[in-house]
Amino acid sequence: MKMRKQIVAGNWKMNNNLSQTEALIDALKSKSQASNAEVMVAPTFTNLYHASQALHGTTIEVIAQNMHFAENGAYTGEVSASMLKSIGVKTVILGHSERREYFNETDDLLAKKVDAALANDLRVIFCFGEELADRKSGNQDAIVEAQLKNALFHLEGEAFKNIVLAYEPVWAIGTGETATPEQAQDMHAFIRKTLAGTYGDDVANDMTILYGGSVKPANAQEIFSKPDVDGGLIGGAALKADDFFAIVNAF
Ligand code: PGA
Repeated sequence: MKMRKQIVAGNWKMNNNLSQTEALIDALKSKSQASNAEVMVAPTFTNLYHASQALHGTTIEVIAQNMHFAENGAYTGEVSASMLKSIGVKTVILGHSERREYFNETDDLLAKKVDAALANDLRVIFCFGEELADRKSGNQDAIVEAQLKNALFHLEGEAFKNIVLAYEPVWAIGTGETATPEQAQDMHAFIRKTLAGTYGDDVANDMTILYGGSVKPANAQEIFSKPDVDGGLIGGAALKADDFFAIVNAF
């Protein structure tokens, strides 16, 4: 078993109304069993409170998909870190490629969101990853390094205790195309080396680095078996309790 904290998190994205959320939670509760990994699910904002109540006292943590950087104020349609905290949410996903692509989230904006989350004692699952063109031109390492440095490397090393990294190559998200286990391993090792270069070996070796992008029951075990892959951020396959737990049990 790996020494680092292992996590399997389901990102439900903009799926499931209230009754569908209830049904999925019931199915998850009936299938939940002891696991080597921390298990998390991220419903939409409207279902967060209900989900956090319904899963209270279980081993499944309810986390948020996004938040605003401001504490409160005139930001119509947005939700703050302290609002998440007030309903028992302790972890937030930031920087998902869909937020970057469709909602113009930049590294600078994400740096502010990360700061706000950490200031409110929320744990951050920070997503990043290259696009297909970057991979084709061999620029993936430079892109990933820049994403990490621009959004996170203003932090003190101590802050990384509350950060989980999620490498999600954009070309593998929702496409059915997965990075090969070797591509994932190579990038995760590069990420760890990049962290070590600035923050030292302890921070790098303790960092949980998730892989995301078309993880399925059929490929989870091989991906998770790689030494620098500490779990997964799961989209489509997290919407079915059987598939999600097949992935959790791949550890
Ligand atoms: P996917 O999504 O598993 O459907 O590819 C992963 C993600 O967006 O986190």
